[in-house]
Amino acid sequence: MKLRLLFLATVFLIGLDQSNSASKNKFPDYFKFGVATASYQVEGGWDADGKGENVWDHITHTNPNYVKNQDNGDIACDSYHKYKEDVALMKDMGIDYYRFSISWSRILPYGIAGSPLNQLGIDHYRNLTQELLDNGIEPMVTMFHWDTPEPLQELGGWPNPEMEEHFVYYARILFEQLGDLVKMWMTFNEAKQTCLEGYGTGEKAPGFKTSGLADYQCAHTILKSHAKVYHMYEEEFREKQGGRVGIVIDSMWFEPGSGSDKDVEAAERARQFTYGWYGNPIIHGNYPQVMIDRIGERSKKQGFAKSRLPTFTQEEIDYIKGTYDFVALNTYSTNYTAWIEEADISDVSYNSDLNVRLFVDDSWEESASTWLRVVPWGLRKIVNWLSKTYNNPEIFITENGLSDRGGLDDDQRIRYYRDYLSNLVDAIVEDGVNVTRYTAWSLLDNFEWRSGYTEKFGFYSVDFNSTERTRTKKASADYYSKVISTRCLVDTCN
Ligand code: NOJ
Repeated sequence: MKLRLLFLATVFLIGLDQSNSASKNKFPDYFKFGVATASYQVEGGWDADGKGENVWDHITHTNPNYVKNQDNGDIACDSYHKYKEDVALMKDMGIDYYRFSISWSRILPYGIAGSPLNQLGIDHYRNLTQELLDNGIEPMVTMFHWDTPEPLQELGGWPNPEMEEHFVYYARILFEQLGDLVKMWMTFNEAKQTCLEGYGTGEKAPGFKTSGLADYQCAHTILKSHAKVYHMYEEEFREKQGGRVGIVIDSMWFEPGSGSDKDVEAAERARQFTYGWYGNPIIHGNYPQVMIDRIGERSKKQGFAKSRLPTFTQEEIDYIKGTYDFVALNTYSTNYTAWIEEADISDVSYNSDLNVRLFVDDSWEESASTWLRVVPWGLRKIVNWLSKTYNNPEIFITENGLSDRGGLDDDQRIRYYRDYLSNLVDAIVEDGVNVTRYTAWSLLDNFEWRSGYTEKFGFYSVDFNSTERTRTKKASADYYSKVISTRCLVDTCN
């Protein structure tokens, strides 16, 4: 009986969160609102002005069926040429900051440390950054958003520890060439996707399927590269440039599928294998204990002489620990978790190491992306979890948004933003979570990786059939503008 009452109370509370009554709480004055894009998804100009080939150019050109409708990012939104128009759209919306990424292959066409610099690439990003500043929009730069230079992939890509040297070389150029203008740096975007999907499941370029091995090696290189870049900034640039550095980590919220101890354990394990895989080393110095234990044990039973999860030396732990100026989260949705019997020991994979069943509630509203159900209360829960797990850090939401199939009257997107922001403002005002920025994905409809141009996330639609790549405002752009100018989700705020 008690359990039943608890269940009904939970459903009622969740129901409230999902109702039409947005919070009356107001976002604090210091709170900033931004929008995000990424180089390969919007720029086009794939070989313009001396740019080199990256893994997405390579895979879409050599294996066109890798992406739906044989789409690619050769032209995309043509933002490489239309950046001034993009900045004007953001200014019109009242956006505080623009999160965009730099294409490594534009700066260093060969990617490799010591290879020639492409001045035209630098010029482009200086022009974009200056245009933003001239219009009162702060630049937030991601150094790497999945577009590894192809020559580096041919040397093995991220599972190769030598990538650290190449990435640090590239990052130094960015600090030197752009650091007078850019004060907010993200080293990597969603390293979990780069590693798990790029080298584990093959879902993203370069499309390798060596899960349980290459994905862990990839993450290890990325974490060490991030730490080195953080220290380089600290020691050589921070005093003069006064900027901040972090890494963007993605995770959905994992909610126990029931109140049973095992399902609760499964949820926490999923969180640790997702956010914790990257967050724990950077914040606490090492991989989460549950990853060390589970991967170590399974590796041993599988006959490996050492764990498939690489180990950090004590010196490395001390070096990686604390390499963040804020905690950044990309989050879109929620999954339930259930405990399951141990996977067959012959299976070497991240999924078997994690060993949790993930599922959704069929009543959760769908989007155009199979992985993205609309679950606004998950946002409040995940920022609370981050706050508790990592000692109340400053948190940025670096991506959140909804995909649909298109249309200018995008009511579903407006509801999504209203309900997610409603949970966010409650987390800040009522729960005391220190979130200071929110970034909507995305400014424009753009190249959504394997789905090509079929899943649309933008505040502006883009006519991909026109050479002009004409941008047209959607209703959600006006909604977001109003939230930014009023810091409020309803007409009357507290
Ligand atoms: C995460 C990625 O950073 C971005 O590239 C992608 O388009 C969005 N999520 C939506 O899937």
